[in-house]
Amino acid sequence: MIQSPWKVSGVLACLLLLGGCGGDSNDKARFQPTLDERVAAVAQQQGISGDPSVGRSLPDIASPKAQLGMQLFFSKGLGGDLDSACVSCHHPMLGGGDDLSLSIGVEAVQPDLLGPGRLHLSTGTHFDGGPTVPRNAPSTFNIVFYDEVLFHDGRVESLDKTAGLNGAGGGIRTPDSAFGVADPDAGANLSIAQARFPVTSPEEMRGFSFEAGNNNAALRTHLEQRLRGSDVELALVTNQWLDAFRHGFEQPAADANTLITYDNVAEALASYQNSQVLIDSPWKAYREGDLQAISDQAKRGALLFYNSKEQGGAGCAGCHSGDFLTDEQFHVVGMPQVGRGKGDGPDGSEDFGRFRETGDADDKYAFRTPHLLNVTETGPWGHAGGYTSLEAVVRHHLNPQQAIDNFDFSQLDPAVQVSNMTANTQKALDQLASLRLAGKSQLPEAVLSDEQVDQLLAFLETLTDPCVKDRDCMAKWIPDNTISDPDGLRLQAQSTL
Ligand code: HEC
Ligand code: HEC
Repeated sequence: MIQSPWKVSGVLACLLLLGGCGGDSNDKARFQPTLDERVAAVAQQQGISGDPSVGRSLPDIASPKAQLGMQLFFSKGLGGDLDSACVSCHHPMLGGGDDLSLSIGVEAVQPDLLGPGRLHLSTGTHFDGGPTVPRNAPSTFNIVFYDEVLFHDGRVESLDKTAGLNGAGGGIRTPDSAFGVADPDAGANLSIAQARFPVTSPEEMRGFSFEAGNNNAALRTHLEQRLRGSDVELALVTNQWLDAFRHGFEQPAADANTLITYDNVAEALASYQNSQVLIDSPWKAYREGDLQAISDQAKRGALLFYNSKEQGGAGCAGCHSGDFLTDEQFHVVGMPQVGRGKGDGPDGSEDFGRFRETGDADDKYAFRTPHLLNVTETGPWGHAGGYTSLEAVVRHHLNPQQAIDNFDFSQLDPAVQVSNMTANTQKALDQLASLRLAGKSQLPEAVLSDEQVDQLLAFLETLTDPCVKDRDCMAKWIPDNTISDPDGLRLQAQSTL
């Protein structure tokens, strides 16, 4: 039930002319907008349809290439030491992430145990007392809607940033090329470009001895050889990858050297991930005309989310803009810096965020605005997973300094705590304070009542597609035993996943 353009523009005009419409009180009463009309007006004004997929081409999980991608995504055969797969940190039943503040990839005590309880080996040369991965694993759901950057610091970046193309418009910069320069091997979209890198990270998948000291190209060549069956060092006991690639790329007669290339691995992985479109939320249903799909509390939350501070809102959409709820830009908001850091700062325990890529002083401690689809299911939140409650993340935005002053670091798993996390987080807050003084911060200092915070949370809850919590609905993204396990190294997630 779409309102007529006349009516919408009438309401819009009333809202924009703050004095109201018409001259006498009868007119005022007649034009007093309802809660639904007020939400419709602000959504209309910001171009929010509720559906981020409009005008995009999306791969289908049933396609052969996405099916091959699923086999690869679940295989520890892509891990240097055969102990870590993409799914170790991005499981469909864990919101497309791992449910941990900081990820644990290689050297897990039980490699097939995902989520809370997954621990890093407490012996060995690389054990440093906690998860070795310094950042929180974002969800792989809906990444097809990113058009500009992937990763918390945007180190995979579309150079022309055309809307609607997932980076397919022009060149893509990756960690294999200099800032601002296209990587000739990046592939056709951001998801393909990204899929070239997890295998190169020692902490995530590579391990500390596989191709140690050699460059990314050598590492990928070695993985190609392994999947082709020509790796003399570490032959796979079972190897039916050629069949799987022939089927996936629909080339039944092609040989291993033609088909089993890392470019094709990345393309298949991206097809699988880009098929994870999970957007059928109550908010979308509401925007498409089902006025009962969300509660009045959530509608008030939507007004707070979309209206600026000056309009009486919290100004969230200033950064979490559009139907994908992100501007894909970088902002300093000072969320907790926990874990071992990215090697930045005097003792290496800091994470400079976007500054690591641009070298621009204003970008120090800036991180990409994440999208908020299915956000109730993608915690812990923040680039280092410092927040374990959604309410705390929302309150953080309202008053970051106060939130950190009151932050109970002991709520975190002792393994992710390091002694200087309070001091490191304070540096980001000091940066926020100085950007604010210089008029360079887009974070409004909105003051909300407890009731309004609850309304915002009720709105955020409407962004979750119920499918993501339903094992049967998600089954098509989790291989069962009717789908071949080409190397016998499929990660069989323990517990009920
Ligand atoms: C050890 C855990 C781990 C493993 C294994 C892992 N990832 Fe990730 N993934 C992460 C973390 C942590 C990040 C964020 C890193 C950053 O931003 O610096 C990430 C980021 C991503 C992103 C970017 C999402 C976004 O919102 O920008 C994608 C896509 C992704 N991973 C896909 C994959 C694929 C494909 C594989 C397998 C080839 C894989 N990951 C293996 C932990 C992991
Ligand atoms: C100045 C831009 C900006 C504004 C305004 C803003 N956010 Fe954010 N938001 C961010 C950034 C940047 C992050 C990620 C910070 C990090 O990773 O350390 C984030 C993270 C979040 C997260 C955690 C998501 C995740 O996956 O970890 C939630 C939830 C969130 N914001 C909700 C809100 C709400 C609600 C409002 C309004 C009260 C709001 N944001 C206003 C920039 C903004």
